[in-house]
Amino acid sequence: MLDRVENLKSQVEATALTTKEEAETFRLQYLSKKGAITELFKAFRDVPAQEKKAFGAALNTLKTLAEDKHKEALESLDNSQAVGVNGDLTRPGTPYELGAIHPINAIRDEIVDIFKRIGFNISTGPEIEDDWHNFSALNFPEEHPARDMQDTFFVQRNPDWALRTHTSSVQVRAMESAQPPIRTISPGRVFRNEAISARSHCIFHQIEGLYIDKGVSFADLKQVLMYFAQEFFGKAKIRMRPSYFPFTEPSAEVDVYWGLENEIDYKITKGTGWLEVMGCGMVDPNVLKASGIDPEVYTGYAFGMGIERIAMNRYQIPDIRLFTENDKRFLEQFKTGL
Ligand code: PHE
Repeated sequence: MLDRVENLKSQVEATALTTKEEAETFRLQYLSKKGAITELFKAFRDVPAQEKKAFGAALNTLKTLAEDKHKEALESLDNSQAVGVNGDLTRPGTPYELGAIHPINAIRDEIVDIFKRIGFNISTGPEIEDDWHNFSALNFPEEHPARDMQDTFFVQRNPDWALRTHTSSVQVRAMESAQPPIRTISPGRVFRNEAISARSHCIFHQIEGLYIDKGVSFADLKQVLMYFAQEFFGKAKIRMRPSYFPFTEPSAEVDVYWGLENEIDYKITKGTGWLEVMGCGMVDPNVLKASGIDPEVYTGYAFGMGIERIAMNRYQIPDIRLFTENDKRFLEQFKTGL
C-alpha cells in the first residue's frame, strides 16, 4: 500500500500545471471525490493495523503536497493574467491596431491646407440640394443636359431636390450669405448618375475654390493656380485651355506640366507630358447677380477639381472602386506609421 502512495507522489511531483485547464484536470485526477488520493483514503480501512500509522502519515503528506501544488498553480495563473505590479511584466502587450487615414481624406486635407495658408476659409453645404443652388443660380439653362435624368439623381418625393452634382452649389450659398471679399474653398461629396467602372464612379469628391472681391482678374486666378501646382505637385508650369462651364466666363481647363522622364510619366500623361487637374474660370456676372452680388462692383474666379483623380495619380491607384470598397488590405497601405 505504501508503494501506491509513493507512486502517486512521484506522479504528482512530475506534473506541470501551466494552464487553468491543466490545473482542473489535475484536481479531478487526484483531489476530487473520485480522485486517486481520495480513493486511497477510502482504502485506509483495509490497511493492516500495524501499517496504519505510516500509511496515514504518508497519505496526508501526499494530499497536502497535491493541494498546495494545485493552489499555487491557480494563484500564479491568476496573477499572470492580472494587470499591475503583481502581473508578469514580461508578457507581451495587447496589440492596439491603429487605423489609417483614407487616401481621399488625406488628399483633401492636404489641398485644404494649401489654400488655408493663403487666407481661404472652408465652407460646406447639404448633399441633397435644390435646383436653385445646384443649377439655376449657376446659370444652367433650363434645357442643359446636366439637369437631365441621365446625369442627376433626383429625389423622387420632390423633383426640385437632387443629390448635388458638384460643390459649386456650396459657393452659391457662400455668396448668398456674405458680401465680398469672399475667399472660400468647399470640399465635399458629389453624385452623378453614371455607370461605375475603373475610371468613373457615381459618388466622388470635389474641392472648389471661390474668390470674389473688387478688381479680381484672370491673372489672379492664374497666380493662385500656379501656387497650387507648385505646393501640391511640386511643378512650376501650368497651361490653361479654353473650355466651357455655365457658371464661368471665360472658362478653362488647367493642365500641370508633369514631364516625360520615364515610363510612368508617359502613362500618367498619356504621352503628352501634361496632366489635366481642374476646371476654372471667372465667375459669370449672371451667377453673381443671382447670389445678390453686384457684378458692376465685384469680380471673382472659381476653380474645381476631383479628389479621386488626384489621389489615383498620387498613389498610382488603378481602380476608383477601391476607394469605396473598404478593403482593409487596400486601406492599410495608407498607414502613416504613427
Ligand atoms: N463644377 C465644375 C465641375 O464639376 C468644376 C468647376 C468649378 C469649373 C469651378 C469651373 C469653376 O466639373
